[in-house]
Amino acid sequence: TVVTDAKPAPAKKAVPDTQTVTAVKHWTDRLFSFRCTRPSSLRFRSGEFVMIGLMTTDEKTGREKPLLRAYSIASPSWDEELEFYSIKVEDGPLTSRLQHIKVGDKIVLRPKPVGTLVHDALLPGKRLWFFATGTGFAPFASLLREPQTYEDYDEIVITHTCREVGELTYGRELIEGLKDDELLNEVIGDGFWKKIKYYPTTTREESPKMGRITDLMRSGEAFRDLDVAPLNPESDRAMICGNLAFNLELKEMFEEYGLKEGANSDPQHYVVEKAFLD
Ligand code: A2P
Repeated sequence: TVVTDAKPAPAKKAVPDTQTVTAVKHWTDRLFSFRCTRPSSLRFRSGEFVMIGLMTTDEKTGREKPLLRAYSIASPSWDEELEFYSIKVEDGPLTSRLQHIKVGDKIVLRPKPVGTLVHDALLPGKRLWFFATGTGFAPFASLLREPQTYEDYDEIVITHTCREVGELTYGRELIEGLKDDELLNEVIGDGFWKKIKYYPTTTREESPKMGRITDLMRSGEAFRDLDVAPLNPESDRAMICGNLAFNLELKEMFEEYGLKEGANSDPQHYVVEKAFLD
């Protein structure tokens, strides 16, 4: 008989809500996107966000705890994986670490989706506008791959304002890729992508269209370029996702156009959410 007083190793406390990274792509030195496994229980509406992050050690107690931030899900509701689009902030508590994740790494994901950038928060309309700055494009990456977007609207106008040209690439490639999206072609039919008007602008690097979208709308230039009338509450619906100043400025403009802000419980003409900045 072998006598041993060795205690069984304490069972490692399972980290709740852990998912595995399946792909990572760096777009610029400030931006990256990644994909991860999707919890089988997670149901969400395209455009919603969840809390995701990494395990970290609490400096005071030495205990492991999750460091979480709100991230829009960039993949559509039907996708079997999840996609996220993130900024990299050098001294950002989360993104200074998150930007180094590799395929096979674990992330924490709380499967409780919420948000107002959803079709349910808008009244029916003819034209749907997506207004994004920087990583604010993420929820629209989800909604642009959602069949309902094309079922509910005759036209979709996407404006994306970034500092530099390279920051537009994620969005541009996604929009160009819609033409070849099998599910959308099957469900919506050939040519659904002809409903899309894309209006990218930059503010700090030379590009074909320069300036903040707010200024381009105020001067009328954006509407002339797009060949559409300014927004009105009869036909237009809008979703806004960008930095705080951008959101506030657009809200003010929309109220001048007579548009009202909606919510899940009270669908109206437009909805707003802050883009994640760490
Ligand atoms: P700008 O370069 O003129 O500040 P950020 O990276 O700082 O979040 O900004 C992303 C983009 O949003 C930039 O092109 C920036 O332009 C633009 N932006 C910032 N504030 C506003 C605003 N109030 N209205 C419109 N665009 C804005």
